[in-house]
This record gives sequence, C-alpha cells and structure tokens, in this order.
Amino acid sequence: MSENLKDTDLSFDEFDERRRPATVTTSFDDVLDRAQSRRGFMKSAAMFGSAVFVMSVWNAAASKAAGRPNFDFEPVRANSLDTVTVPNGYSWRPLITWGDPLWSDGAPFDDQSRGSGRSQERAFGDNNDGMAIFSKGGRHVIAINNEYANRSIIYGNRASGLPETADDIFKGKMAHGISIFEMTDKSGAWAPVVDSEYNRRITADTSFEITGPARGHEWLKTKADPDGTRALGTFNNCGNGETPWGTYLACEENFNGYFSSSDLSYEAPDTFKRYGIGNRDWGYGWAKTDARFDISKHPNEPNRFGYVVEVDPLDPTSTPKKRTALGRLKHENVERVLSADKHVVVYMGDDERGEFLYKFVSALQYDAKDDPSDLLDDGTLYVAIFNDDMTGHWVALTPEATGMASKAEICIHTRIAASAVKVTTMDRPEWVAAHPGKAEVYVALTNNKNRGKKPNRGGDATPLNGPNPRAENNYGQILRWRADGHDHGAMTFSWDLFVLAGNPTQHNDEYAGSRNINADNMFNSPDGLGFDSQGRLWIQTDGKASNKGDFAGQGNNQMLMSDPGTGEIRRFMVGPKKCEITGLCWSPDKRTMFVGIQHPGEKGGSHFPDGGTSVPRSCVIAVTRDDGGVVG
Ligand code: FEO
Ligand code: CA
Ligand code: CA
Ligand code: CA
Repeated sequence: MSENLKDTDLSFDEFDERRRPATVTTSFDDVLDRAQSRRGFMKSAAMFGSAVFVMSVWNAAASKAAGRPNFDFEPVRANSLDTVTVPNGYSWRPLITWGDPLWSDGAPFDDQSRGSGRSQERAFGDNNDGMAIFSKGGRHVIAINNEYANRSIIYGNRASGLPETADDIFKGKMAHGISIFEMTDKSGAWAPVVDSEYNRRITADTSFEITGPARGHEWLKTKADPDGTRALGTFNNCGNGETPWGTYLACEENFNGYFSSSDLSYEAPDTFKRYGIGNRDWGYGWAKTDARFDISKHPNEPNRFGYVVEVDPLDPTSTPKKRTALGRLKHENVERVLSADKHVVVYMGDDERGEFLYKFVSALQYDAKDDPSDLLDDGTLYVAIFNDDMTGHWVALTPEATGMASKAEICIHTRIAASAVKVTTMDRPEWVAAHPGKAEVYVALTNNKNRGKKPNRGGDATPLNGPNPRAENNYGQILRWRADGHDHGAMTFSWDLFVLAGNPTQHNDEYAGSRNINADNMFNSPDGLGFDSQGRLWIQTDGKASNKGDFAGQGNNQMLMSDPGTGEIRRFMVGPKKCEITGLCWSPDKRTMFVGIQHPGEKGGSHFPDGGTSVPRSCVIAVTRDDGGVVG
C-alpha cells in the first residue's frame, strides 16, 4: 500500500489495513514452528498442493457418479481491454447501469454532474454486487446489491473528488443499498420495467426491523430508537443469498468505513477496533449531515450494522429485517442449504485478513407448510477449525464456550466470540457456494498478504495452516469441505484445496499454483463463486489487474468456469479495465446469465460501458448464447 495515498483514495481493504491496531507481531516463534511443521507436511505430500492430492481421490468417485460437466466453449485469453470479452458464440449487453432511472420521474444519468441526491434516489445504485431473481405469475423481479460508491467516480465532478455539499452526501447514501426492479424479455432481450409496482430502492435511510437475539439489547439502543428494535438503512451490501421461502438475503460487509467522530480525541473501545471502526470514515462524510454516524455522539449506532438483512422483493411494502442471529461480521455472502433433518444451515465468510468461516443452524426445522418467517431468528452460530490432516469440525459459539453473557452478546460481538474459542484464521473468506448435488461446500479465500506475518485485528496469530498454506498469499485459493455423512448438519468434515491460484510463468514453487493452473487459465484473487444448474462452479475474481510482475499474463479481472469433479478450469470472461467481476444469477429458463461488472476504472483508465469519454459505470450485463441455448 502506498503510504502517501489519502484514506479516501484507498480501497476498503487498504483502508482497514492502514488503521489496523499497532500490534505487529503475532507470536513469532509460533509462526515459525507452525510454518516449519507445515513445510514438512507439504514435502511429505510430494507436491506443494498436498491438498490437491486429496482432490484427485474425491474426483475419481465424483466423475464416475456424476459424469462430466459440459465445457462447451473455447476459453478466452487474458487481456487488458476496456470491454467485456466472452467466448465465440456468446454475446453480452448491459441490463442496467449505475444511475439508470427506475421510475419515469427520475432523470437519465448525467456525465457532468454524475447525478444528484434526488436522481440517485430514483435510480439504480452504484457498484452492483450480489443479485438474485424472483418470479411470480410470469413476472420476474431482480434484487441487486449496491455495495458502495467509488468516491473519485461518483464525486469526479468535484475538485476534491469527495462530497462537497449536503446533496453530494445524500447522493452517496442513495447510491448504496439494494435496487429491486421488474424486468422483462418481451422485446427479445432483458430490460428493466420502468415504473413497475415492484420497483424499489432500499438505501442507507430505509427503515429496518431488528430481529433475533440482539433485538432490544442494551448495546443496540439509541436516542432515535430507545427500544433497539428499528434501524435505519443498510450499506456496503456485498454478496447475497436466498431463502427457500422466496426472500433475498443481503450481507453488510465493510460497514465500519461510514462512521466517524466529530471529537477526534474520542477513544474507540476495543469492540469497535475489532471491526475497524474509528474516528475517520472512508470519505463519504455521512456524519456531517446525519449525526447517527458520529460515534462520539451515538456510540451504539455501529452495533446496528454488520448483519445479514432479509428482504421480500415480491412485496414492495414489506419492512426488511436485520437477522442478528447470523452474527455481526464483515459478511461476504450467505449460502443457505438444508440439513438432512431439514434445519436451515447457512454458511458465511468474514472477509478480512485472518478472520473466520461460520455456519448457522436453525433451531427449528423448515417445513414449506409453516410460516418460515422466524427461522433465521433462532439457532446456533458455529466457527470452523481446519486440521492439517484434512479433517475439521465446527465449534459452537455458546455463552459457556465464549465467556459471553448471552446469545445477544455473541451475535453483536461475533468476531470476539470466535476469537475466544481459538479457531482457524483464514485468508479472507469471500463467497461460499454449496454444490447442488452433494454436501460439498466451496469458499474463495481471496488473498492475505499478512499470512505468516501479522495477527488478525483481534490479535489471533496467523501461522501457515492447512487451508491457508502460503505466506504473504497474494494469489488466493479455493477451499472446499465435504460434510461427514453427506449431511450439512454434521459437525465434522473433510477438506481439500480445489485450487491454489498462482502464476506458473513467474514462479516454480507453491506460488505457481496447483496442478489445475496453467499459463492459459491463471488468475488471482478468487472472490465470487456460484454453481449453475449443471453443477459447474463459476469463479469471479477481484484482484490485481496490473498484468505485470507476479500478475503478468493474467490481464483484467475475469470469470472462469470449473468442473468440481476433475478440477479443470477455463476462462469464460474477461472484464473491462480496473473492474471487478461480482454477482451472478440466471434467468428462469437458464438462457441468460447475469453478471456484475463492478467499478470499471476504479483507479481511472476506463470508459466502460458507454465508451468515448464517458464516465465509467458499474453495470449488470446479460450474457446469452448466439444459438439461444442454455448458459447455466
Ligand atoms: Fe465486498 Fe469481500 O467483497
Ligand atoms: Ca467480494
Ligand atoms: Ca474481494
Ligand atoms: Ca468489491
């Protein structure tokens, strides 16, 4: 990270890193010991990808049982173009772009002003991320997270590159949250239905009901909400999930960057520091117009963010809910499955260096005949331990195990609870995806330059360990585990590494990547994951797009398709300059695949998607086969 960049020029990841507590060393001896024993372990497995060895054992059984997913495209080559590249025989077009109005009383996006508070309030938000489609009576509604806004782009009309008026700040708040709209393919291609009664914007100001164990807890009470049961807004909604009862789940991730203190001598408590909440925000200035974001005045407000929220996209008048039972962390996405005995199981990653992997199991069983609305309010949170012998188990976060007074405290200070039970520190868990045909789950561990060097924010050491085997891991890996007894309800599992990303043209050691990585399919920083209906795993990346040095030959961020049976990986898409590919869903007939292009030109150099000298804008694209065939 360049030390002379301003806070507001940093990515969230860099911002958090700069503000990390001063403790630099973990226990160095501990790191060394673990690293050495790990090296011995790896050597004995004949190849650095010892885990890949286990993968091939799984594969033999898998390919016999399931047959091979169809790789019916020629892979695309890495490139650094300012456009989307898909294989021959496929096409793409934008579905919706940041600032496109959802109602006819809105205004078309204006490149000069980059919108106003009012126009943004009536339009598709910025930096689209997770998304899902909901259908009823032949009508189709899509819910899309709008994770954040790049200050230099949304405020590119201002000399400072930051909000300069109250309306600028309001515009930023309205660019966040969730956009919900009806879409139709009646004219031959999917397009939003402007003015549909389903269209809805959920923003940083929308009213939410707080549910679950933390509802009404002392730490959630504020002047505006003395009962601790209603919160305003959701923001930094990263990945998503869906419930079997047809609702949308959105995950609050880097919520810390929106809070600041007008009193710079305010000393944030340790419980704030664990989440990176401090006296300076990430440049949005929300506390200047809305005092609840001023932590010296409203110190409980940050405790009301960092949750999974549930929205019913087919009921535009419904009040969305914050499901505190799923814990408070930097939620990436949620992958919801059912256990053999029909309890709802939710897998979740906490995306920060050295944080943990979680699962929630509902207390009650799911029964389609019952009212499911409270299933996500009562249950147990677990955290994963991965052993070097490729087994693992889940540890329950109970008051007894964590030393906390109640389930409510565990749900509010979840990171601290997890640290108390000493579990495996991970290389930034991003999306989790469960195989549709078996109790096998994949998580993208995007990268972790601090692995083996620095503890996590809570002071937990981050020695090399089984699923996180490389020091200063700039490439990332995809870990998977198989629940024992083929039951997501099991408390034990076996694991392996599906892929270690790397660069075989630059390295001949473990940084070259695992055996299923070669010069033609290499990438870095896996992030979004999703299975299609054919059991193929799609991988989206959010990494370094410099195409130089360690990243030479990898081009822009991209999307790849993989065969979970054989481990084969092929590049399907390359995104435009300085974008991230994130968010994935399919039309009900599977003939269109929707893919998110987030922050093209994040640090300049892009005019995607409109070209010319236009402002680069995040968008969702629709990908189809030219022969009208199925794409997922
Ligand atoms: Fe919003 Fe961890 O990505
Ligand atoms: Ca992500
Ligand atoms: Ca990421
Ligand atoms: Ca992102």
